[in-house]
This record gives sequence, structure tokens and C-alpha cells, in this order.
Amino acid sequence: MVLSEDYRHLQPSARSWADEDDASRVRRIRTDRWIAYARAKAALAAIEDVLSFPKRTRMPNLLLVGPTNNGKTMIVEKFRRAHPPTDAAETPDGVARIPVIRMQMPSGPDERRFFGAILDAMGLGSWRGETVAARQDLTVRLLRQTGVRLLVIDELHNLLSGAPMQQRRLLNLLRWLGNELQIPLVGVGTAEALRAIRSDDQLVNRFEPIPLPVWTEDDEYSRLLSTLEAVLPLRRASGLARPALASKIFALSEGVLGEIIAVVTRSAAQAVTSGAEAITPRLLDEAGFTRPSDRRRVAI
Ligand SMILES: Nc1ncnc2c1ncn2[C@@H]1O[C@H](COP(=O)(O)OP(=O)(O)O)[C@@H](O)[C@H]1O
Ligand SMILES: [Mg+2]
Repeated sequence: MVLSEDYRHLQPSARSWADEDDASRVRRIRTDRWIAYARAKAALAAIEDVLSFPKRTRMPNLLLVGPTNNGKTMIVEKFRRAHPPTDAAETPDGVARIPVIRMQMPSGPDERRFFGAILDAMGLGSWRGETVAARQDLTVRLLRQTGVRLLVIDELHNLLSGAPMQQRRLLNLLRWLGNELQIPLVGVGTAEALRAIRSDDQLVNRFEPIPLPVWTEDDEYSRLLSTLEAVLPLRRASGLARPALASKIFALSEGVLGEIIAVVTRSAAQAVTSGAEAITPRLLDEAGFTRPSDRRRVAI
């Protein structure tokens, strides 16, 4: 076994991992991690801001908008983890507190499925009543009792898979729910979700868009690569942020965050198993990555 060199390319917490065997390093490389980047921090701060807003009839809402696989769900999950539920056993009245709920808009949504999705997100799926009215009453009662302060509606673009009339009714329902509970709503979705919201004159002014566009090859992108390099336990420095590697990774990922992370972590795992111990331009060439747009073409 190689004895600890100083591994100065790694952040202190990752240095001790670099001496672990290949299997455990590959496992660490494949584990999901949270990397803070400027837009994510700004989005978290914006959500924190609406959460701390005093109750009033018109609560401010946000809409996190970006392409698929670009970090939207990771941001709202990070936020939810920062505001965890309190167990029923630990509250004075014996009722659990759930400050933040993240539900997913069902596809082909109707009112029944919508309320069912909220109950599922609260871990109470089996309680769901049968009629729409029963589900609605139960949902609103539970949201109040558990002190829900913010509702995240992920995959909001699924709204568009319903018929136009159905879309109208769900948009009305969202507006009604926000008013009834006086809590902010955070919608999460693609540009189509934004279009759906904009089709409703009353909602459009109440949802402030937070754009999460694809990445560009700028300083923030370099910082992302440097941060990634510092947490992946390779024994040699790769210099991911240097132009030769950074541009290649960018081209392969087309600037989509999930793809950037996937290209880097998959090549890092190969760098471990091949013994190269660093990501090189050649390794990227030989890894046989398919760009997302080519993958789509193959799928058709
Ligand atoms: N902040 C982050 N730190 C590390 N990896 C991230 C981060 N955000 C996104 N990712 C990676 O990108 C993938 C896609 O992110 P996700 O939030 O599911 O995208 P979206 O909801 O926009 O489709 C994740 O599975 C993860 O691998
Ligand atoms: Mg998502």
C-alpha cells in the first residue's frame, strides 16, 4: 500500500480517503454529494427569504426554472434537509411538525392525484380518502396540523400533460391552496412550467422566476471543477480546471450540471481502476462518453 503522500490537490477531509483501496474509493466517487455553487446558494437564500416572510393573504411564490438534470431537485432537497421535521414524540401536543414538504406534480394530474401526491410526500399515502373532497379536507387539515410553512411542487411541468381545462383547474387549485394556508409555494420545473404559470394572469405576478440555466465556461465553472477535483480521492492531481480538460468536459456535458458531474465521476472511477490515478484528456477520449444530444438522437 502506498503510504500517505501529502495529496495537496485534495481537501483535508478527502486526503485520508486517498489511501483506501480501489473499491472503497470508487464507492466514494460514486456517492452523491452536495457541491455549493453561486446559483445554488442564491436560490437557497431566495427560498429561505420567502420562508421567513410573515403570513399575509398574498404570499410570495418562487419558480425554480431550468433544463432537466441541472440541479433543481438537489437544491430543494438541500433546503428541505435544512428544515427537517420534528417527530410527534418531541412536540408538546404530540403532533409531528413538517416545516417543508416537497411533492411531485403527478403526470396527467387531476385534483385527486394532486392531493394524493401531497399526502404521499407527507408519508401518509395510506390515509388517503377516496373522493376528491375527502382528500382535499384531509390534506388541508394535515398541512395545518403539522405546521407546514412551505410547499415545494417539483416537476411542475407535468401540469402540461393534462388537458387545457384540467390545467386551468390545477392552476386555480394552486392559487387557492397558497391563499388558504397562507404559505409560500415553490414551483420547480422546466421552461414549460414557466409557460404554464404565465398562462394564468393571476399567478404570473405571484411567482418570481429563479433561473437555473445551463452552465457556461466561466470562472464559476472552473470553481466547480476545482471543488470536484478536491473531493474525489484520486492519488494524483488532474488539473480539471485547466483549459484542455475543462473544455473537453464542457463539450461532453453540454453545460448541464448533472452531465458535468457524471463525466467527472465516471472518469474518476476509471482513473482509479486503471491505475492512472488522474483524469487526463486521453482518458476522456477513450472513455466513450456520448453527449446528451447524441444520446437523444440514438434514442429516436
Ligand atoms: N449541488 C450539487 N452538487 C453535486 N451534484 C449535483 C448538484 N446538483 C446536481 N447534481 C448532480 O446532478 C444530477 C441531477 O440533479 P437534479 O437536481 O436531479 O436535476 P433536475 O432536478 O434539475 O433534473 C444529480 O443527480 C447530481 O448527480
Ligand atoms: Mg428534478
